[in-house]
Amino acid sequence: MRIGVTREKRSGERRVAATPETVQQLIGMGLDVVVEKGAGVESGYSDDAFKEVGATIAATLPLGTLDVLVHVRPLTPQIVKSLKKGALTVGLASPSTELATVSALASAKVTSFALELIPRISRAQSMDALSSQSLVGGYRAVIEALTRYPRFFPLYMTAAGTIPPAKVLVLGAGVAGLQAIGTAKRLGAKVSANDIRAASADEVRSMGGTFINLDLDANAEGTGGYAKELAEDRAKRQRDLLAPHVAAADILITTAAIPGRAAPLLVTKKMVQGMKPGSVVIDLAAETGGNVEGVVAGKDTAVPVKGGTVTLVGLQDAPSAIPSDASRLYAKNVANLLSLMTKDGKVSPDYSDEVISGSCLTRDGEVKHEPTAQALAAKSSKPAKAATTTKAAKAPATTKKGTK
Ligand SMILES: NC(=O)c1ccc[n+]([C@@H]2O[C@H](COP(=O)([O-])OP(=O)(O)OC[C@H]3O[C@@H](n4cnc5c(N)ncnc54)[C@H](O)[C@@H]3O)[C@@H](O)[C@H]2O)c1
Repeated sequence: MRIGVTREKRSGERRVAATPETVQQLIGMGLDVVVEKGAGVESGYSDDAFKEVGATIAATLPLGTLDVLVHVRPLTPQIVKSLKKGALTVGLASPSTELATVSALASAKVTSFALELIPRISRAQSMDALSSQSLVGGYRAVIEALTRYPRFFPLYMTAAGTIPPAKVLVLGAGVAGLQAIGTAKRLGAKVSANDIRAASADEVRSMGGTFINLDLDANAEGTGGYAKELAEDRAKRQRDLLAPHVAAADILITTAAIPGRAAPLLVTKKMVQGMKPGSVVIDLAAETGGNVEGVVAGKDTAVPVKGGTVTLVGLQDAPSAIPSDASRLYAKNVANLLSLMTKDGKVSPDYSDEVISGSCLTRDGEVKHEPTAQALAAKSSKPAKAATTTKAAKAPATTKKGTK
């Protein structure tokens, strides 16, 4: 069977869905691999490196002949229309926002797997692209802060005087937040964090951070380890209680998200105005609405404060900014999912496996992920055919930041 690796078409996207290492893995499974010319160049993997492990290079992918197409960003409807009936795609599909592509996938009778929908269970961790790319995003958020912050991160005690460590506050301690805590800590900063899930307190401490307990008196645990949206009175109370911590921070990194919803507002303009001049705010949720009022995705904003400005950064495409390692992890996620579906050189998904059925977005002309099918039905006057399986419906419809 023939697997195609696309060169990413979205401007600014530097990752690739396969590396020479995973191409070797796929060929070892009995599959043929064709890589679009230049697909890995931006992430440091040359056409020659792919050729050396047995892939063929094509100036443009022969889409109509592929059995499987692997990608990073959601495919365009045009690309989907060029695929043959029954072809299979694996990649990030952003089902909640890319409805035109989902509709095209169903119409073309393409079987698509959305990596956002991989169940968050231990067995599926090696295929969990949300986690691998959030790890990169959390790390990158700290590096972005570091380059804009006019002071040191660590404590320095020198003959010329003592420099105190930077105070870093992380709001949202999921995969990205925990990586941000660990990275800032390794750079010598004093780190504290808050999250609304009770389980996150121990996780924050295990990364070397101090957990800020706001005593919100709210059960914010949703399903699958995710958080639930706070009622507006609790959300306001959270902002009020966070205000002094935000004012004391030199660096604020926000990563809070609720599956299928816009990012929760954690920091108002007034709270940013209460920060010290020179402070830096990195909003990793900027692409899904932002945790910080006034943030613009992909832009730096200088917020006037007493005595200077605070730099508010709407971080966009964070994993793409570290394309080589982000691709290395992502490509492994893709290859591991394909490995789960492949037997004797044939990609043949077994839908009784919850990882496979849970991540299946479209199949046989139907949208299998119920929240997406509902969103499509609401959008068009003609209701989309929704699958009856309940397992797939449990997965969140969210499109995550940066991979996302
Ligand atoms: N395979 C696995 O078992 C596996 C893999 C990855 C993640 N997980 C778990 O899944 C969960 C979600 O992780 P994620 O990184 O995808 O989360 P996410 O991207 O959905 O959200 C990021 C964080 O924001 C937090 N948040 C939401 N609203 C908030 C608010 N108002 N204030 C502060 N924080 C808020 C969430 O609790 C979460 O920790 C975590 O419990 C994580 O440990 C499990």
